[in-house]
Amino acid sequence: MEKPENTIDEYAVAGYPVDHSLSPKIHKSFAQQTGEAISYGLLSIAPTLFEESVKKFAESGGKGLNITLPYKEAAFELASELGPEATKAKAVNTLTILSPKNIRGDNTDGIGFMRDLTKNNGVSLREKHILILGAGGAARGILPPLMNSSLGSLTLANRTVEKANRLVQLLNAKNKITVCSIAQLANAHTPDIVINATSAGVKGQTLLFPPSCINSKTFCYDLSYAPKQTPFLKWAGEQGANKLVQGWGMLVEQAAESFLIWRGIRPDTKFLLRKNEKN
Ligand code: ATR
Repeated sequence: MEKPENTIDEYAVAGYPVDHSLSPKIHKSFAQQTGEAISYGLLSIAPTLFEESVKKFAESGGKGLNITLPYKEAAFELASELGPEATKAKAVNTLTILSPKNIRGDNTDGIGFMRDLTKNNGVSLREKHILILGAGGAARGILPPLMNSSLGSLTLANRTVEKANRLVQLLNAKNKITVCSIAQLANAHTPDIVINATSAGVKGQTLLFPPSCINSKTFCYDLSYAPKQTPFLKWAGEQGANKLVQGWGMLVEQAAESFLIWRGIRPDTKFLLRKNEKN
């Protein structure tokens, strides 16, 4: 059946809580830039209702969803077909509704992160020693592309060591990732790049890492984003880190990749990236 003219395709970001999400703002800006006729809203889904809510959205004609905490693993389970990055991460942040019974899952977090780190921030990963703090949903998306870069080493430190071990096992990455506790970091060499993938800042909790994780050469990246500065980057700055970057660029780049999957056109991200620099 031909699509009627002037139809607006419906998209949203689904999560819980989701009210703070900047995704609608980003996608509306992309739609304006590309002239694509889409609407993009917020879909707050209470725990236990994920599958039911996605199905309802699909049946009402919705075209796609970005998936945020805490549903990236549930979206992986729900998808009837998967893109290669979602298969590797075992998590989905982009659902494309091909039909209410055929929903595709992709993961654009890793691509968005790598693009922001290497292209927007000009970081070379070659032979670099990288430390990731936290082994939850945020770490999942970025580990597969990092594992496949020519790094010096990749260490995953988590408050609950068992959770980090489980993640490494799930990703089949025992010979690529070293797992340790937060306390063990005090005796380790200072890495070149430290990435905060914990949810401590978002939850308003204090993070306690050994100050020796950071020196004047360390590049610090926080996967989360705050209007001013995240608590992790504030702490890293106090330890004398070389550069502090928060996840705004990753958010914009992963959104652009989702937009490309849905609409077949990749928006230019420069405008939104610059906007953040002014904040
Ligand atoms: P998920 O992303 O799987 O839903 P989460 O509870 O949001 O998990 O936590 C994400 C990560 O942040 C986890 O690695 C968590 O450590 P634990 O596995 O030990 O729970 C980490 N994290 C959350 N709060 C933290 C804190 N205050 N200090 C250190 N790590 C913290």
